[in-house]
Amino acid sequence: MNYPFWDVPVLSGGGVIGLIAVYHLLIALFAVGGGLYLPIAERKAIREGREDWLRVLRRHAKFFLVLTAAFGTTSGVGIWFAIGLANPEATSTLIHNFVFGWAIEYVFFIVELTMAAAYYYTWDKIDRGLHLKIGYIYAASSFLTLVIINGILTFMLTPGETWLSVAGSGNEASVFWYAFFNPTYFPSLVIRTLIAWSLAGIWALVTASRIDGFAYPGLKKQIISWSAKWLIPAFVLVPFCFLWYLAMVPESNRQLLDLGISTIGQGTFTQVTRSALITVMTSATIIALVYFVAVRNSRSFNLGWAISILLLALAATGATEQAREMLRKPYVIGDFMYSNGVRKYEVAKFNSEGYLAHSIWKSKDTSSMTDVDRGELMFRGQCGACHTQTGYRGMSVLLKDRDERSIENIVGMLHAYNDDSPYRKYMPPLVGKDDEMKALVAYLKTLPAKPAK
Ligand code: HEC
Repeated sequence: MNYPFWDVPVLSGGGVIGLIAVYHLLIALFAVGGGLYLPIAERKAIREGREDWLRVLRRHAKFFLVLTAAFGTTSGVGIWFAIGLANPEATSTLIHNFVFGWAIEYVFFIVELTMAAAYYYTWDKIDRGLHLKIGYIYAASSFLTLVIINGILTFMLTPGETWLSVAGSGNEASVFWYAFFNPTYFPSLVIRTLIAWSLAGIWALVTASRIDGFAYPGLKKQIISWSAKWLIPAFVLVPFCFLWYLAMVPESNRQLLDLGISTIGQGTFTQVTRSALITVMTSATIIALVYFVAVRNSRSFNLGWAISILLLALAATGATEQAREMLRKPYVIGDFMYSNGVRKYEVAKFNSEGYLAHSIWKSKDTSSMTDVDRGELMFRGQCGACHTQTGYRGMSVLLKDRDERSIENIVGMLHAYNDDSPYRKYMPPLVGKDDEMKALVAYLKTLPAKPAK
């Protein structure tokens, strides 16, 4: 392990990434869907001679520009900044494989942002046909940013056989396109596009909610009904696409979900299933609210309702991301690198030569340290990616009913990593020499005594 570890109390590094990512996704996918919504709505308004629609759309374009250019861009950079800190080893792998992917991505970002600004600032100032063209270039470039990033994101779950066969050899870049168009690439692209369209509809409701429904009841109703239609493709197709997606996920990851569903009656279903259920329930609520509150009662549909729908969309996005994240456990890059940065092929080496011996981030010579201190380094290096001491997935809570024997027992199981170990589905193997195991036990024993927050 060549990098230091980022300790985030209570939240964990992964938690920070999760929070930024959910907020970012809601805006970034809106940038993709909204980019198409605007020119299509504008074209419709021009064809039908609806100057009142055009005025509303212009306001929406401004909202769109501020939201995507200010908040979408900064949160996007924020994610990569946090990922670089939380999981430097995985980030390094991604950069080594996809540096040209990122270069392409940045070109599309520049076109996208330039066109978003041009679209708003040339409103009513240039020929309408030309203005529409700017809108379509925007739509295309923002979709292309998704086309690129989707390759990198799906790679992490399913890098694919071809890439795995050269992984670690130094020739990874020669199979760039195999890694990019990996097994979950297409189902994921279709799902994200459908979600982007539905977010375009949901965000449009925010602008529409501010139209005075008593002064302009017809206009408000038409815009709301037309925007609501943007949710229909996702509503109809996402369930099928999700099955397609699952079919492309390796069997071992899918087991996490199957395990959940088959035990649902006994109440022990996994976090993947729990998150998936939250997604289904919040999505159904969104559809019901959009239909009954927005479309049927458009006149009194207000900002409060629009924001409630948006918050539900945030919850649905969060739950979906959580499920996807859980599906990937115990790996950060499927079948290649565990969530704590240990590569699968390095396990034997760490076991024979020691984990801390290969951790150049530690500050002191570990031979003069106490067991507890060395154990803490083991914990930070190998467990800290998913566990905190007292906060998110906190050790002090998970260990509170365990005595020394039972802590030794679980450490032993994580280290042995037998095929039938129940922990294999979501935790990586614990690597290191026997004295490092002893040190970790010594450290873990000190944790339950700390008050759980
Ligand atoms: C890839 C993420 C990940 C890593 C790394 C990880 N764990 Fe876990 N661990 C989990 C998850 C997920 C659970 C289930 C938590 C829950 O039920 O809330 C869990 C549960 C546990 C539990 C409770 C299990 C039980 O049966 O009581 C213990 C103890 C534990 N982990 C210890 C460790 C230790 C020690 C390490 C480091 C050697 C570690 N974990 C590394 C993800 C991880």
